[in-house]
Amino acid sequence: MFKLAALASLLALVPYVSAQSQLYGQCGGMGWTGPTTCVSGSSCVVSNPYYSQCLPGAAAPPSSSSSSSVSHSSSSSSASGTATSSAPGTTTTPTAGNPFANCNVYLSPYYANEINAAVAQISDATTAAKAAKVASIPTFIWLDSVSKIPSLDTYMADAESMGGCQLVQIVIYDLPNRDCHAKASNGEFTIANNGVANYENYIDQIVAIIKKYPTVKVVAVIEPDSLANLVTNLSDPNCANAQTAYLTCVNYALKQLSSVNVISYMDAGHAGWLGWASNLGPAAQLFAQVYKNAGSPPQVRGLATDVSNYNALTTNSPDPITQGDACYDEMLYIQALAPLLQQQGFPASFIVDQSRSGVQNIRTAWGDWCNVKGAGFGPRPSTNTGSSLIDSIVWVKPGGECDGTSNSSSARYDSSCSQSDALQPAPEAGTWFQTYFVDLVTNANPPL
Ligand SMILES: *[C@@H]1O[C@H](CO)[C@@H](O)[C@H](O)[C@H]1NC(C)=O
Ligand SMILES: *[C@@H]1O[C@H](CO)[C@@H](O)[C@H](O)[C@H]1NC(C)=O
Repeated sequence: MFKLAALASLLALVPYVSAQSQLYGQCGGMGWTGPTTCVSGSSCVVSNPYYSQCLPGAAAPPSSSSSSSVSHSSSSSSASGTATSSAPGTTTTPTAGNPFANCNVYLSPYYANEINAAVAQISDATTAAKAAKVASIPTFIWLDSVSKIPSLDTYMADAESMGGCQLVQIVIYDLPNRDCHAKASNGEFTIANNGVANYENYIDQIVAIIKKYPTVKVVAVIEPDSLANLVTNLSDPNCANAQTAYLTCVNYALKQLSSVNVISYMDAGHAGWLGWASNLGPAAQLFAQVYKNAGSPPQVRGLATDVSNYNALTTNSPDPITQGDACYDEMLYIQALAPLLQQQGFPASFIVDQSRSGVQNIRTAWGDWCNVKGAGFGPRPSTNTGSSLIDSIVWVKPGGECDGTSNSSSARYDSSCSQSDALQPAPEAGTWFQTYFVDLVTNANPPL
């Protein structure tokens, strides 16, 4: 395991050399005109056609690049960066069936529009130029209400027209009584008002669209926070009351999405939630049970962690807020959870959200999740993950979309969003939060 934070902080002390990209800097990709070689000790690895990144590992001599390409990054002939082998311990063997391997990840036009509108509001030219780059980093498309579904048809048609292997990333997020332990992201359906049937209809509409585009690959994150809340928060009556509906709905989603070959990752919270020793066993049991109840379909690939959160994938200087949890980063959490899942018959692979994980040691408590001040965009999406358990680093959270309002008069007000480490004033969840976006851009690590 390599030590991201230590290396990054070390590198911050080294003067920038313009002829080569810094560790974790960009070194290639469509439209990239900057340096294509990396500082000593790192090598340029293709993350996707839009982005190549300097990752730790001995750089191969420039002339031998074609023979030393490794297949675990989703390389593409259109990228100008060159994948080279990394130092022992940092390479990962592609796991069979990794949907991210050798496939172009489709850029969400919805997010690109948000970014373009945001960039137009930024007067500082340097910041605006950095912000504009975010539009070419793939994020997930959140289908968080029925009204968003028709846009999926447009995106699928668009992806299909691009030819080759195209991967569209979606988040399934519309459970009845959604967000049972918090308030900020309460959804449109309630169990009391036909919520389960409405949810099944929501899934049916998504499935009908995906079915029309069999050549386009779809990866889905299933219902952020929902099953994790069933592991730890059943003492909250809102979660206890939602338990049966959540299990029924997730079961329906997994079966129906698998029938049209969607690759699913169930949301599994993060290291600071289910990574505690007392939670790992119950979490593994629940996820394995849900997987088996859905018929153990091969399309249910595994779990997604750190969605919309801020944890590092790896660090050798644990944030003080993690004290007491042996799993103080996502890698440790995944390494602890995976064998327990395997024992129960769920050979899970993982994806890890790093969209807002660029800066650590910014929270006063590990449970703080709402618009945390000082956050920055994090490591870019990449199949070079440092672990064969992890299919890809991804950006599930479209950074800049608000986590929840700080307005205490709002129906969806959650006190987490007015804590001292939350940026305020904050608009409603899901809406654009311009000042927060600008901070993410400014604090991005690696820099944009
Ligand atoms: C309930 O869920 C939150 C996340 O929403 C988690 O941080 C917290 O630890 C859970 N509470 C308990 C008592 O486990
Ligand atoms: C806060 O929410 C209330 C209720 O929705 C609304 O009337 C008020 O205008 C909001 N305040 C701000 C500052 O947005």
